[in-house]
Amino acid sequence: MRLLAIETSCDETAAAVVEDGRRILSNVVSTQAEIHARYGGVVPEIASRHHIENIGPVIGRAMSESGMEFGALDAVAVTQGPGLIGSLLVGIQAAKAIALVHDKPLVPVHHIAGHIQAPFLSAEGEIPLPALCLVVSGGHTSLFEMPAEGKYHLLAKTRDDAAGEAFDKVAKLLGLGYPGGPVIDRLAQRGNPESHDFTIARMKDGSPDFSFSGIKTAVLYHVRREGVAPAIDLANVSQEICDLVASFQRAVVASLVRRMVLSAKEKRPGSLILTGGVAANSLLRREAAKAAEGLGLPLFVPPIALSTDNAAMIGAAAFVAWRKGTRGGMDLNGDPHLNLA
Ligand code: KG4
Ligand code: ZN
Repeated sequence: MRLLAIETSCDETAAAVVEDGRRILSNVVSTQAEIHARYGGVVPEIASRHHIENIGPVIGRAMSESGMEFGALDAVAVTQGPGLIGSLLVGIQAAKAIALVHDKPLVPVHHIAGHIQAPFLSAEGEIPLPALCLVVSGGHTSLFEMPAEGKYHLLAKTRDDAAGEAFDKVAKLLGLGYPGGPVIDRLAQRGNPESHDFTIARMKDGSPDFSFSGIKTAVLYHVRREGVAPAIDLANVSQEICDLVASFQRAVVASLVRRMVLSAKEKRPGSLILTGGVAANSLLRREAAKAAEGLGLPLFVPPIALSTDNAAMIGAAAFVAWRKGTRGGMDLNGDPHLNLA
């Protein structure tokens, strides 16, 4: 079963050809990060326009690198949501056009199902289910229980900002550009994570949910109170900023790992999955690995290129959806707030 998968939900234009939901035949990602960097975040209208320019060449490259012709595909998969509506529609229209012209079935995919399925592309052997899946990206921070492939029960979510959003907002505040995660990850290695006492409070009502807007505000107040000067040159960032981001990162990672451990003790899954753009974070990877070892559970984390947005993960999730009979018609529409059923 070979399918072409298309992903355009945010600022990456991506296409991939995936076999049986496991084997990547091609995986092309064209990122717009540099274009949005000057605005400190993704500008939806600009993202849509760049998707329109990029979608044809990206699909063309994915097909030629896979060595396949459109006619030999079994299906065309596309991210239906959640995401930016203008961006989603570019991928959906392209997928519909290919499906119509080449008479192929269309498979709509939930973006988060893609992130959850990403480790299946790189895992050697089977991933023991049920799995406890922590999805941490720029738009989402959620913990799911996956009793079987393609089934997801939401256990916890963020009440406000996503973890990646907090990284991006703190980076913007400190003049570190966009996206914030990778640069904070790098600078934190030069900083003292104990220099600032940032903690993320637990929910007062005992809910397992996450919250990351408070820590972002705490960093903002600290910067104002102490008059911390934003970075001007990324090659020459002050020790003060390195200490600040190291402490911020420590608190965010501690909150994520703590919730994963508590839920693992309660749910007793067969494995742990850590995925989404923030799963690229080196401290989070280290701390999650330590926690998994302590729990005696295998941890599956996609390689960085499959943690951040890509289309191969959409192809992996599409294979699961396809086997469940999910199909889209020519009336398929983007849904910016699509729920993961
Ligand atoms: O999954 P993704 O590529 O797109 C969404 O679906 O949102 O995630 C992007 C997010 C951004 O907020 C970015 O700052 C964050 O992932 N990110 C990181 C790292 N690399 C990317 N956050 C922390 N540490 C990193 N190394
Ligand atoms: Zn994503």
